[in-house]
Amino acid sequence: MQTRGYTLKSGKVLIIRDATPDDASSVITFVEALSGQTDYLSFGPGEFGYSEAQERAFIRNSEISINALFLLAFIEDALVGILTFIGGERPRVQHIGELGLMVPKAHWGNGIGSLLLDTLIRWAEEGGIVTKLNLRVRTTNVRAIALYERKGFVIEGTVTRSMRIGDKYFDSHLMGRKID
Ligand SMILES: CC(C)(COP(=O)(O)OP(=O)(O)OC[C@H]1O[C@@H](n2cnc3c(N)ncnc32)[C@H](O)[C@@H]1OP(=O)(O)O)[C@@H](O)C(=O)NCCC(=O)NCCS
Repeated sequence: MQTRGYTLKSGKVLIIRDATPDDASSVITFVEALSGQTDYLSFGPGEFGYSEAQERAFIRNSEISINALFLLAFIEDALVGILTFIGGERPRVQHIGELGLMVPKAHWGNGIGSLLLDTLIRWAEEGGIVTKLNLRVRTTNVRAIALYERKGFVIEGTVTRSMRIGDKYFDSHLMGRKID
């Protein structure tokens, strides 16, 4: 397992490493807590719906896939960021995949999202398999869009009604970044 350490704007040390199946329970706790802090995720509180066994299997799959990545970021022992990237399965779509990024509200603006994205981009550049990173982001999520643009992602299209919360619909941008 590769572990990397960085000093954040706050002066604290951030450790980024690959997730292992034993992280499943902390990942679920993290994700459930974050779902109550933002409505920019595709699930709300209590809606994540993965059991520990399912999360373990998901992480295991990321470990063994040549085109998947599951990164965790820690300050001391506290989990403060997750990045997932899932690549396509068949040969014609193995070079593409979709990423997800989550940082708890208390840690926003401290550079954690930026470092997780840098790690993903470096992994793709060095791996030589993934040549396109895709994501979906709600059109009003200016914080995330600004961060993605700073990392070289461009808006490639807009999907209407990509999310429904109660009786309200929301649109999302499809953003992409080529890896050459
Ligand atoms: C989006 C998210 C991952 C960003 O993580 P983060 O750790 O706060 O990101 P960073 O601190 O590395 O960068 C934040 C950047 O947002 C931008 N930003 C912050 N506030 C902003 C605002 N009000 N308007 C526009 N841009 C803003 C800046 O570019 C900032 O970087 P800078 O301060 O270095 O210039 C985090 O806010 C999050 O998890 N949100 C909830 C879930 C989510 O929206 N995930 C993405 C779904 S696609």
